[in-house]
Amino acid sequence: MNIHTVDSTPFEGQKPGTSVLRKRVTVFRQARYLENFIQALFNAIGGGEGKTLVVGCDGRFYNQEAIQIIIRMAAAQGVARLLVGKSGLLSTPAASNLIRKHKADGGIILSASHNPGGPDGDFGIKFNGPNGGPASEQVSAAIYHETGRIRAYRILEADDIALGKPAEITLDRTRIHIINPVTDYADLMETLFDFPRIRGMIEAGMFNICFDAMHAITGPYAYEILERRLGALPGTVINATPLSDFGGGHPDPNLTYAHELVEIMNRPTAPDLGAASDGDGDRNMILGKRFFVTPSDSIAILAANAHLVPGYRSGLAGVARSMPTSQALDRVAARFGIPCFETPTGWKFFGNLLDSGKITLCGEESFGSGSDHLREKDGVWAVLFWLNILAVRRQPVEQIVREHWAAFGRNFYTRHDYEQVESGIAAQMMEELRDRITTLSGRKIGDYKVAYGDDFSYQDPVDQSVTEHQGLRLGFTDGSRIVFRLSGTGTEGATLRIYIEKYIADPARHGEDTQEALKDLIEIANKLSGVLTRTGRGGPTVIT
Ligand code: G1P
Ligand code: ZN
Repeated sequence: MNIHTVDSTPFEGQKPGTSVLRKRVTVFRQARYLENFIQALFNAIGGGEGKTLVVGCDGRFYNQEAIQIIIRMAAAQGVARLLVGKSGLLSTPAASNLIRKHKADGGIILSASHNPGGPDGDFGIKFNGPNGGPASEQVSAAIYHETGRIRAYRILEADDIALGKPAEITLDRTRIHIINPVTDYADLMETLFDFPRIRGMIEAGMFNICFDAMHAITGPYAYEILERRLGALPGTVINATPLSDFGGGHPDPNLTYAHELVEIMNRPTAPDLGAASDGDGDRNMILGKRFFVTPSDSIAILAANAHLVPGYRSGLAGVARSMPTSQALDRVAARFGIPCFETPTGWKFFGNLLDSGKITLCGEESFGSGSDHLREKDGVWAVLFWLNILAVRRQPVEQIVREHWAAFGRNFYTRHDYEQVESGIAAQMMEELRDRITTLSGRKIGDYKVAYGDDFSYQDPVDQSVTEHQGLRLGFTDGSRIVFRLSGTGTEGATLRIYIEKYIADPARHGEDTQEALKDLIEIANKLSGVLTRTGRGGPTVIT
């Protein structure tokens, strides 16, 4: 077979963000754009010769064309084995699991996670290493470096591979395994959770679930696990068919974008548990009847109840949360006498902690939670964890959360996002805020006294690498916090995120409305940053 070496020149800006390369579909479809990045990736990892790689997509527009190009390029680099999901599909957690299970050298995941899809939507490529987790900062930097010096890429001349059913195909020197994308993942879940007990609760007719797959990748996973293996009613999984444009929706499981589920959970006849996942299946949202569980509370509650779940019964080595995530998890860790690590935003920072056995559970405020069972956050896993707790405790979701607050205190928490802000304006705002915030220590603002103001930097406790400029923190002496950061996953302009948190121990105040309870801190954040005047907005684009 013919391997072509095609001359190329670098594209500017193939720089990995929070979650590797994410751009508009129109950008990825430019001639040589995808090919350059893939060749840079192979160059950065020492070539493909003899390697085993997993390749999977979340089903979005341009996946099918892209995966064929990647298969031909992998063959041209001498990759020995390629594990590909049927029809190219794999959720991000399922891909992570396959990399680990088959001891692959890594995986290429085609996804833009929760960003919209379609011809004018977003596309992305992520590289995961042999531990199944997102490439480290060092590997990401090496890929970016290679994109800047690319002169040619190599590709095999071949017809498209039929990916529609499980098969084994040889392409030049590469063996391609097309596998059922769901089975291995569902089997892994059965080893962690008490399926008979959950099934018992569901079959007793006492428990209904609504899972919104948002026309994204988790449809087939949730159907197999919830409806087939756990006996949930037919129709439990809604929007279950993955569509390349996610049905025109925004596949992000939050109160704004998962409005269909929210509406179902607000009905008088609402199911007992509502859940949703995102484009590539790593995020989750948990709802009770007319009740929203914040992701920061969710991970704290999973940690506090982990002893009820077979996979975690032997105890947690430690836990971790991303810096902007609320400190509810810290309180659980303190009670249990286990360490709680604070990492920069992005799942890759949990990798070393998980690999070295320092932590068992981890989570982010951005609807992500996971554990050492793989190296990505995992949407369906979080839903099953909740189901397992519910099957043991036999209480409504809301009661479990309220009892948690009563036991640990409540960390009121909100995130205000300002999307598509002009990049220059956002950068200037952050720069001026940085200068301001770092001088405020010891000062009083309203009723609050500033304990510290800094630009968060993190030293990895395993490899000692230092990551700087991860968000501006303003901490108060009562434990309240305001955090400002710019998103690293947007594809247009800048997204400014403001995270606000206040701790209240008194159970009599736990019923307060979040925005109300945080009102004075929100005002401080707005005033300090001048965000409304600078952006000319009346308020945030999305509040979670
Ligand atoms: C966002 C979330 C972050 C998450 C990432 C990938 O990144 O805030 O927690 O890890 O998506 O899902 P951001 O856009 O804030 O950089
Ligand atoms: Zn995602």
